[in-house]
Amino acid sequence: MSKKKPITLAIDIGGTGVKMMLLDDNGKPISERLRLPTPQPPTPDNVMQALDELRKQVTGFDRVSIGFPGVIKQGITHTAANLDPGWIGFPFASAIRKRWRRPVRIANDAAVQGFAAIRGRGVEMVLTLGTGLGSAIYTNGHLCPGLELGHHPWRKGLTYEDYLGRDGYERYGKKKWNKYLAKAIEQTALTFNWDHLYIGGGNAKHITLDPDPKITLVSNADGLLGGAALWNDNEI
Ligand code: BGC
Repeated sequence: MSKKKPITLAIDIGGTGVKMMLLDDNGKPISERLRLPTPQPPTPDNVMQALDELRKQVTGFDRVSIGFPGVIKQGITHTAANLDPGWIGFPFASAIRKRWRRPVRIANDAAVQGFAAIRGRGVEMVLTLGTGLGSAIYTNGHLCPGLELGHHPWRKGLTYEDYLGRDGYERYGKKKWNKYLAKAIEQTALTFNWDHLYIGGGNAKHITLDPDPKITLVSNADGLLGGAALWNDNEI
């Protein structure tokens, strides 16, 4: 008898919304995409209550994947710049595991999104252009957790996120923002020597870069789809 393929409950936690969807083991959606506004203040307790609410609407999952906008190591949230200080040092994976009695994996939201796109060969980098600037780096399909390029000081006392996040897009306009993006990509190439770069996120639709065989624009705007492939990396 063939073994039942696991169904993943994929979750994305953002500054404005928390989202949830069931995925088959290939990362294909098998439920609607459910969403609630991020509760205020976005403390661990309030966010977990919102997750409980959404979870009532789904049944039949074997494991849980969560994308979170901060530094995550071994299921613990270490930063959460756009959420609440209560997340610093919070054992999020074990809290959800106890609540829902399923195995749980958590990674940075950009990293989860990247898992849906990467090929698992060489050094691959992901940038997500949304409200914030997400970043992740992998070697042969394994994530190196903790990269926060967005908060790295770049030019004139401002960070990469200040230039390339949503506020930067609004401040500089499409043309200048694209110029900064091209410069930032060049910096990442010099710093990380990636073999391939993937760029996603809601603002990726504004990109006007010339095509480059080493750069792929990823069309899906949210991170939920990478939730199944997160289970391919056993070091998460
Ligand atoms: C956070 C990152 C996150 C990115 C995109 C940044 O502000 O620090 O952890 O990946 O926003 O959500």
